[in-house]
Amino acid sequence: IEKKVRKICCIGAGYVGGPTCSIIAYKCPEIQVMVTDVSQERINQWNSDKLPIYEPDLDDIVKECRGRNLFFSIDVEQAIKEANLILISVNTPTKTYGMGKGRAADLKYIELAARTIARVSDQSKIVVEKSTVPVKAAESIINILKANVKPGIRHQVLSNPEFLSEGTAIRDLLNPDRVLIGGEQSPDGQEAIAALSDVYGHWVKKEKIITMNTWSSELSKLSANAFLAQRISSINAISAICEATGADVTEVAHAVGTDTRIGSKFLQAGIGFGGSCFVKDVLNLTYLCESLNLPEVAAYWQQIIDMNEYQKRRFADQIVKCMFNTVSNKKIAILGFSFKKNTGDTRESPAIYVCKYLLEEGAKLQIYDPKVNHDQIMWELMKPEISENPERVKELVEICDSPYHAIEGTHALAVCTEWDEFKELDYKTIYNKMLKPPFIFDGRLILDHKMLQEIGFHVETIGKRL
Ligand code: NAD
Ligand code: UGA
Repeated sequence: IEKKVRKICCIGAGYVGGPTCSIIAYKCPEIQVMVTDVSQERINQWNSDKLPIYEPDLDDIVKECRGRNLFFSIDVEQAIKEANLILISVNTPTKTYGMGKGRAADLKYIELAARTIARVSDQSKIVVEKSTVPVKAAESIINILKANVKPGIRHQVLSNPEFLSEGTAIRDLLNPDRVLIGGEQSPDGQEAIAALSDVYGHWVKKEKIITMNTWSSELSKLSANAFLAQRISSINAISAICEATGADVTEVAHAVGTDTRIGSKFLQAGIGFGGSCFVKDVLNLTYLCESLNLPEVAAYWQQIIDMNEYQKRRFADQIVKCMFNTVSNKKIAILGFSFKKNTGDTRESPAIYVCKYLLEEGAKLQIYDPKVNHDQIMWELMKPEISENPERVKELVEICDSPYHAIEGTHALAVCTEWDEFKELDYKTIYNKMLKPPFIFDGRLILDHKMLQEIGFHVETIGKRL
């Protein structure tokens, strides 16, 4: 193993691989970073002016580094050959088939990456597992590498989970709470850890780089996401009690969060959490517990998912109930479709499920999102697990290019993503364009409810009676 990282190959040019490598290239001018993917389309986009993902400030960083020490290519094998450190940041989605279907993480892309590394490498390399994986996944990578390497080669495998959030990826990468590196507790393992620490050391303080054994590192990532998701499910559970009693969830969250032991972050009630990871990783954790014969522990974590399902359903039910128990053929504007603001990502977005339930009730939806395009929204809503009848979805859904277009002639407006621009809309104009009585359902608690009531809207939100 070379002690200094000279060339990095990243396998997987997605939400993690792209931004992470851009920051490494930006902060480490002497390291050459090659980001690779099997998708020609994704690579073309990374090499164009319109990057495949939207993240504030990402464009500027890519522009500065691309062609200097940051490159994007589909030649995965060549990049592996040349690099002395390889980041695996491929997707690890929930399995949709076979054993563990709907729960376990699908590790086929990780395995394929490991096999490619073993096959094409002529030198020992540091192989870094950046994707989120079940505990002991590194063991499989190690076994595949060992069973397939050329004579004399000894790769080292590290776990280096990523903690960035979408929409703030650049900020999180530049100033992480911590960088976690897990590795083998042997001299070779420690050397590999030191080499990767050196890369982060270009911009992250030493105290923030935590090193530990590989399994702790893998489990820490799943645990961190499960704890975050748990806070959201906890406050959403409280929001249901608030609605039933007249307590106000914002006030309760404030009071609870001022206890420094609890802290105020991640206590925002809403229509449930989405995103590519919380659901997937908590399911992954429950499956792991089951495989380890820990059914009580599995049930404990499973409840976070169950509460999240309940919250998405509850919001849609509230809309139907409030609109005189029927939304059939009524037009409803959906504002926001991404899973959170400042991203165009729709994976597991709670908005999808709210739309699904409303479509099942026969509602006509006029959907607007500032960053998600027409095709992406239709693709999500026409998936077999969302709709049994895609033709019906086409009839009932219209994608709009502005919020004002979306509310035209509607009975109700539902906020599903907390985009800032929804706070600034001209609600007097909106009032005039909607059918009467006009309903607003604020699923993210972002609007000025008093002002809306004064205009004449019937307003409903999560976790408080208005
Ligand atoms: P993504 O789907 O956006 O990107 C993964 C990319 O890997 C895809 O473009 C895919 O084409 C490519 N790929 C798959 N197999 C390949 C192969 N054999 N060779 C080359 N390319 C291959 O996924 P993502 O959101 O970047 O997530 C990647 C991993 O990071 C996941 O395990 C996820 O749980 C974890 N993670 C994601 C986030 C996030 O915010 N999205 C944050 C932390 C951790
Ligand atoms: C999350 C974690 O925050 C990251 O640390 C982690 O790296 C990442 O998952 C991952 O492993 O993929 P992300 O999913 O991008 O990041 O976004 P979050 O800000 O965590 O939001 C997730 C969901 O929870 C969103 O739907 C958001 O609206 C919702 N949320 C968040 C709430 O409903 N309430 C809150 O208080 C916070």
